[in-house]
Amino acid sequence: MYNAIDKLPLGAKIEAKRIVVTGGAGYIGSHTCVELIKQGYEPIIVDNFCNSPITNIDAIEKITGVRPKVYEIDVTRNLSNIFKLSNIVAVIHFAGLKAVGESCEKPMEYLRVNVGGTINLLQHMQIANVKNIVFSSSATVYGDINNPPFTETMPLSAVNPYGTSKIMCEEIIKVACEYQGVRAAALRYFNPINAHDSGLLPEKPIGRPNNVFPIIEMSAQNRTIMSVFGNDYDTPDGTCIRDYIHVCDLALGHIKALEYLENVEDGSFEPINLGTGHGMSVLELIEGYKKAKNTDVFYEFAPRRQGDIASCYADVSKAKELLDWQTERAPI
Ligand code: UD1
Repeated sequence: MYNAIDKLPLGAKIEAKRIVVTGGAGYIGSHTCVELIKQGYEPIIVDNFCNSPITNIDAIEKITGVRPKVYEIDVTRNLSNIFKLSNIVAVIHFAGLKAVGESCEKPMEYLRVNVGGTINLLQHMQIANVKNIVFSSSATVYGDINNPPFTETMPLSAVNPYGTSKIMCEEIIKVACEYQGVRAAALRYFNPINAHDSGLLPEKPIGRPNNVFPIIEMSAQNRTIMSVFGNDYDTPDGTCIRDYIHVCDLALGHIKALEYLENVEDGSFEPINLGTGHGMSVLELIEGYKKAKNTDVFYEFAPRRQGDIASCYADVSKAKELLDWQTERAPI
C-alpha cells in the first residue's frame, strides 16, 4: 500500500525539505525563514547573533506557529554536526558582515568572515553532497562604472571591501559550480526596506543603523533630525535614487530561487537582480513613509556621503524570466 502522492508506504512520515539558512536570524534571513515555513520547508538556522536579536526567533515562532531549529555558531567554524542532518536539500547563505563604512576600517575582517564563511560552507556542502545554494549578493557589485538600470551582464567593480567580498564570493561559488557540481543563484539585492505586517520583525541592527530606512524610523519615533546626504546630485530632486524593495517580496524571491535550482543542471551559476525596477529618491522615500505611517520625519540636508552613487536601480527581466518572480507590494 502506498501513499498516492509520494509513493511512500502508508503511515510513513513525510519529512519536510530542510534548508540550512546561515544568518537566518537577521533582517532578511528571518523574513525568509517565515516564508520557508509557510511554504512547507524546514529552515535550519545557523547564526552567531552578532547583528540580530534572539527575539527574532521568537517572532518567527509567533508568526508561523513553528519554532525553527537554531545553531548558534559562526559560519566560519566547523559545521559538520549541522550537515549530518538528513534531508538537507539546499543552503541559503545570508551570514556575513554588511556595513560599508566598517568594511573600510576592518577590511580583512570583512574578507575573513564573508569570503572565509562562504568557502567553509561550500566545503561542508561538498562533503555532505548538498548541491544547491542561494547566495545573498548585492547591487553593490555593479560599483560606480555602470549606468542604471543595472543588468546582470554588466562588468562588476567594487568601491569598498564589502563590495570586494561580495564579488569574491560570487567568483568562489562559480568555481564550486564548475568543479564541485554546485548549482547556484547569486541574488543581487537592491535596497530592502520595511518589515513583516505583524510588526514583530523590524530591522533593528545592533548599534547605530547605517541604512536609510531604520534611520527614518528612528527619526519618526524619537523625533530626532536625520541627515539627507546630498541634495545636489544630477537627479530630479537632487537626492540619490535607489531601488527600494519590500523585504517580504525579497524573501519570496528566495523561495522562487530554491524551486528554480531544483530544475537546473549541475554546475549552473546565475546572478539574478532582485529589485522593483523603479528608482525612488531619498525625499520620495521620506514622504512615502510619512504618508504610510501618518507621522512626521524631521530631516536636514547634509553633505554627500562618501562612496554614494547618484542612481541605482535594477533591470528585473531576468528574475521574471528565470524565477517567475516580480515584486507584488509597494515598498512603503
Ligand atoms: C548600501 C550598500 C549596499 C548594501 C546596503 C545594505 C553600497 C554602494 N551600497 O546601500 O551594497 O547592500 O547598503 O547594507 O555599498 N541616506 C541618507 N541619510 C542617512 C542614510 C542614508 O540620506 O542617514 C541615503 C544615502 O545617501 C543613499 C540612500 O539613503 O542615497 C540609501 O542609503 P543606504 O540605506 O545606506 O543604502 P545604500 O548605500 O544604497
